[in-house]
Amino acid sequence: MLADTNQPVAITAKSRSVGVQGMGGIGKTVLATALARDEEVRRAFPDGVIWITFGQTPQILTLQSDVVEALGDKQATFTEINSGKTQLRKLLTGKACLLILDDVWNLEHAIAFDVLEKRSQMLITTRDAGIITALGGEEYQLSILSEQQALDLLANWANQALETLPPIAQEVARECGYLPLALSMVGAMMRGKPTNRWQNVLEKLRCADLEKIKQQFPDYPYPDLLKAIQVSVEALEPEERERYLDFAVFPEDTAIPEAVLQTFWEPLGLDEYDTQDVIDKLVSKSLMSRDKKGNLSLHDLQLDYVRKQTSPPATVYTQVIESLPVLELPHPNPPLGKGRGQESLVSPLSKGGLRGVIRLVYTGPFQGRIKGGNSTCVYT
Ligand SMILES: Nc1ncnc2c1ncn2[C@@H]1O[C@H](COP(=O)(O)OP(=O)(O)O)[C@@H](O)[C@H]1O
Ligand SMILES: [Mg+2]
Repeated sequence: MLADTNQPVAITAKSRSVGVQGMGGIGKTVLATALARDEEVRRAFPDGVIWITFGQTPQILTLQSDVVEALGDKQATFTEINSGKTQLRKLLTGKACLLILDDVWNLEHAIAFDVLEKRSQMLITTRDAGIITALGGEEYQLSILSEQQALDLLANWANQALETLPPIAQEVARECGYLPLALSMVGAMMRGKPTNRWQNVLEKLRCADLEKIKQQFPDYPYPDLLKAIQVSVEALEPEERERYLDFAVFPEDTAIPEAVLQTFWEPLGLDEYDTQDVIDKLVSKSLMSRDKKGNLSLHDLQLDYVRKQTSPPATVYTQVIESLPVLELPHPNPPLGKGRGQESLVSPLSKGGLRGVIRLVYTGPFQGRIKGGNSTCVYT
């Protein structure tokens, strides 16, 4: 599988932009990451590979200035998107870059980066094929895995040899909708378990409360995936499950440094090592992923799920996040207790934990916002 090996990755295109389209959890980001790291790709784009993560509500001006800065120009002076485009165009003139726009939901967002000349190329990943067409891009559709690939992935996550999987694993793969994200979580649940437990997980997937899921996620196109997330979360120890639900408070597409979690969980009685244990468990269950810098993130569908399980609901969290005092997430030790309004965070944190703080902050007069890890980076 792409995620684990150095298998060559190839998408060839005649046009200046290529779009990878497919449903959530199907592997678009994994594919784009493999391309970004591929040596041949790096050689073809000697001026670098630029990665921008969008999601549903990106701050386009911030992303533009991140790219400008990443390209070595410290003066991102623009205050509107069109001027940002002009500056980007200038910086990229004559360069051979690969610009990766990951998880684009809105055509306007991609247009803000549509600045490339001949030697550069753009790769867009999206659930919406219309965006690719509108940009004149060549479309590459990512479909669900074949049964064989799905079984490979299940075996891989279960740490079992493909030949040792029982026939019932085929039904498990089908219940996972042959979707990589679902397969990875379910496979991870089977690690170290005896063969007869495949029946157990199959029953759990079949008995997952689809009605409740449908109520919580009306018009949601991925019930198989939600079932897999639910079964995987329910298999956690209660404490671990609570810590997983804490992720509801972080903004979408934010890579969270381990130190931030340590700070937030310390008042709940978790020391550095307990925090590491919880994180490692969640990563090993494919309930979140860890990047090369050690920062953690949930897939956006997992975040959606987590947000639906917590109270107050996600919209409240979003408002709170917008109004939180300045907490620089990438900081190794968030300066809680220092700076504007932050003294007042320390005591609620010790009482109610992270979600307790959020609840309190929601009713309080805080100003400012929480800043997540960078969603733009340049591979050179
Ligand atoms: N080619 C692959 N090989 C192995 N695992 C994969 C592959 N593609 C996706 N996955 C698994 O599925 C998860 C979701 O994939 P991702 O690329 O984030 O989906 P999306 O299409 O939403 O961007 C990954 O975290 C990984 O566990
Ligand atoms: Mg993605």
